[in-house]
Amino acid sequence: MTSRRLVLTRSAAIIGAASSGLLLPQLVRAQSDKLRVGFMLPYTGNFAPLGVAIENGFRMALNEQGGKLGGREIEFFKVDDESNPAKGIENANRLIQRDKVDVLVGTVHSGVQMGIHKVARESGVLNLIPNAGVHIATRAQCAPNVFRTSFSNSQPTLALGKTMVANGHKKAVWITWSYAAGDEAFEGFEQSYTAAGGAIVKKLSLPFPNVEFQALLTEIAALKPDAVACFFAGPGAAKFMRDYAAAGLNKSIPLYGSGFLTEGVLEAAGDAANGVITTMHYADSLDTPANKKFRLDYAKTFKLQPDVYAVQGYDTGLLLVKGANAVKGDLSNKKALYAAMEGATIDSPRGKWTMSKSHNPVQDIYLRKVENKQNKVIGIAQKAVADSGAGCRLG
Ligand code: PHB
Repeated sequence: MTSRRLVLTRSAAIIGAASSGLLLPQLVRAQSDKLRVGFMLPYTGNFAPLGVAIENGFRMALNEQGGKLGGREIEFFKVDDESNPAKGIENANRLIQRDKVDVLVGTVHSGVQMGIHKVARESGVLNLIPNAGVHIATRAQCAPNVFRTSFSNSQPTLALGKTMVANGHKKAVWITWSYAAGDEAFEGFEQSYTAAGGAIVKKLSLPFPNVEFQALLTEIAALKPDAVACFFAGPGAAKFMRDYAAAGLNKSIPLYGSGFLTEGVLEAAGDAANGVITTMHYADSLDTPANKKFRLDYAKTFKLQPDVYAVQGYDTGLLLVKGANAVKGDLSNKKALYAAMEGATIDSPRGKWTMSKSHNPVQDIYLRKVENKQNKVIGIAQKAVADSGAGCRLG
């Protein structure tokens, strides 16, 4: 309980005692406060559409509960993190110290997440990660108050290599933005592709969020690999696919990727995305009641098609609902709150998933192909994929 709330609690108890002759339990006053939820997400820059989709999905899950959490009203706070790692700590502190949020929902960019992670570990405030896949947050630096509802950066690509080799592509070039998300997505790809007998002939990269791909595409054309695999996301991913097609590479060198490549960008990429094969913990065409209902409700509410980021935001809300309901809105009851979230099975549009001991989803990874501006599921690339959680001592 924050000291501010403690003061309120005690004064309420004293007023209550004075007026009724009874001493009110502290909990009553604490719970009549609004629950403070902070969004730290990108609302500008390449990842802005991702931040918006996450917030939309999260709000949708809470709206399904009448806009309450464990019976409590909610007050929202927002900070645009600009996907800027240099401001990560300062921005997290704005929500935690200034706004005194009970839970921080954020963020998208792995570098910024490291700032949030430091503040979350020091303050003990509940942090729900709705996207950023940086390994260390649920490995060596895992924490009881930090839960990820999305993926670890190597999870999607751990299911990619086998498919590529099975499709006859034995020599590949890898291309990405050079920061944690791209580097760790490569780890998953390297592990799965080389285990299946593939050889990575070259690793290419450019700084995030640079989208000047031309020189690297020229290099790919000269290397003539059997296939290209990549990690890109947001509008920059659409530009990559358009440039790849404009250079004529899509005719001779099939493009594969971590599924973020084709999330939320299929209109912008147009025909350039046709036939691109990816692995991801979601696919638009999943034929389940939960996915159908989610897609319909999301489109009606936000006049937008949902993507994996919307699903992750929604699942973040579902997880918090489970936790908050278990403690009847008293998030200061950490032991019971964390136990409820650790034991939760989330009935997600992506399919049911559970939380690993290190607080990262254990989930199926789908094989998808872009057809008619949809990520069509063509199979399950790997069932129940868990991150190693290496070095985490929780659970
Ligand atoms: C990340 O920085 O961890 C990240 C960003 C965007 C994605 C996936 C991962 O789509």
